[in-house]
Amino acid sequence: MKLGVVILAAGRGTRMRSSLPKVLHRLANRSLLRHVVDTSNKLDPEQIIIVFGHGGEVVPQAFSSDEGLIWVEQEQQLGTGHAVDQALPALADVDHILVLYGDVPLIRIETLSSLIQAATETDLALLTVGLENPAGYGRIVRDAQGRVQRIVEQKDATADELAITEINTGFLVADKKRLTDWLSRVDNNNAQKEYYLTDIVELAVADGVDVKVAQPDDATEVMGVNDRSQLAQLERYYQRNRAEALMQQGVALLDPSRFDLRGELTVGQDVEIDINVIIEGQVELGNSVRIGANSVIRNCCIADGVQILENCVIEDATIGAESVIGPFSRIRPGTWLAGKNKVGNFVEIKKSDIDAGSKVSHLSYIGDAVVGKGVNIGAGTITCNYDGANKFQTIIGDNAFIGSDSQLVAPVTIGAGATIGAGSTITTDTPPEILTLSRSKQFSVKSWKRPVKNPKT
Ligand code: UD1
Ligand code: CA
Repeated sequence: MKLGVVILAAGRGTRMRSSLPKVLHRLANRSLLRHVVDTSNKLDPEQIIIVFGHGGEVVPQAFSSDEGLIWVEQEQQLGTGHAVDQALPALADVDHILVLYGDVPLIRIETLSSLIQAATETDLALLTVGLENPAGYGRIVRDAQGRVQRIVEQKDATADELAITEINTGFLVADKKRLTDWLSRVDNNNAQKEYYLTDIVELAVADGVDVKVAQPDDATEVMGVNDRSQLAQLERYYQRNRAEALMQQGVALLDPSRFDLRGELTVGQDVEIDINVIIEGQVELGNSVRIGANSVIRNCCIADGVQILENCVIEDATIGAESVIGPFSRIRPGTWLAGKNKVGNFVEIKKSDIDAGSKVSHLSYIGDAVVGKGVNIGAGTITCNYDGANKFQTIIGDNAFIGSDSQLVAPVTIGAGATIGAGSTITTDTPPEILTLSRSKQFSVKSWKRPVKNPKT
């Protein structure tokens, strides 16, 4: 089947009370529309056409121009039928059209496949679902034999029709030629004075079409976002599903309701994740990785046996096997730790390579550095990598020992096996194996008396 997808996204989303168009609001750090586009792409369609609203140029701007999406502006929102009609001239040579909504983000590929399957037998297939409370939705009207007759909108329905619990999700697949014809015959003689896409059902039935339906496994898949409360509900539902899938894969989530995955996570065996952890982007966790509470891990590769203790923020970094990070460590982009490393509390590391077994245990800033094997960096060490205009590199050889509270003013090289005395400010390269220190001589003042308080005050 040559399929064209039309995504309706012209709605203003007034109830979001936001300057951002509704479809750009984020669920799991991806815009609602991005979810729908990503799902559509999995169907391998000929085209994806997105109908966006007047003044909503920020919507197409949020997508790359080389994604091949086709953008159609609907200047006035005259109804869902009008919106699909606007997309028709942009449609290439396709047989069928799938209509999706940009504000219904969680529709699953399996559900769309069953809808498309239903449309292979006929010229119009609808996605419907039974709801305990159908208020607000269009109702599916069937005849005595159970054949679909038409869809009636809430505002146009009689009391009997309002009692129908099978509702229109809005998603449908139609034969392109027939849809074009039906849409040309839709009018706006209804309670809302809109061109209803749903009116094509009655026209199809009159043309002798046997309208088929498909249904989702779970009604949440077809829930739209109209306000921030609904967005938050869908986020929780989505996160719960992701957590469930990870637990099925063997991940120990200490509390699945306090775990957020905003991207893709691949895991080894026996991974344990404590509460309030946020995983973003592409993250890989090896076997037996432990992540402590309140940590944020973004675009990282974390090898076997690594322990991330509580309250760490790690971004665009590679953490080698059996390293221990945290608590309260910040590891910034471009950091590579070879393995068996220790990064302790209040340590910030940026764009640095740190070879096997080296430790930065407390209160340090390591930026633009290349650190060898078995190095010990004492508390409060700072690589002074920035002169206010440019960044410079610090190189520390294998087995060097940097005394506490040292400043290494880059560009500078510390020789292998060198020891830097505590409190030194190192401005030139230091030789290997020996002690270097820069520190003013200590002296004591015998005559000095500690001041005392003035007795009159
Ligand atoms: C529509 C259906 C209703 C269904 C419900 C499911 C019609 C007439 N009714 O009702 O049967 O139960 O969805 O949620 O189709 N849009 C445009 N341009 C427009 C109008 C709408 O792009 O001119 C987009 C909206 O941004 C939204 C979608 O189409 O994504 C649905 O529009 P909405 O106004 O929410 O339709 P409902 O009245 O809820
Ligand atoms: Ca709606």
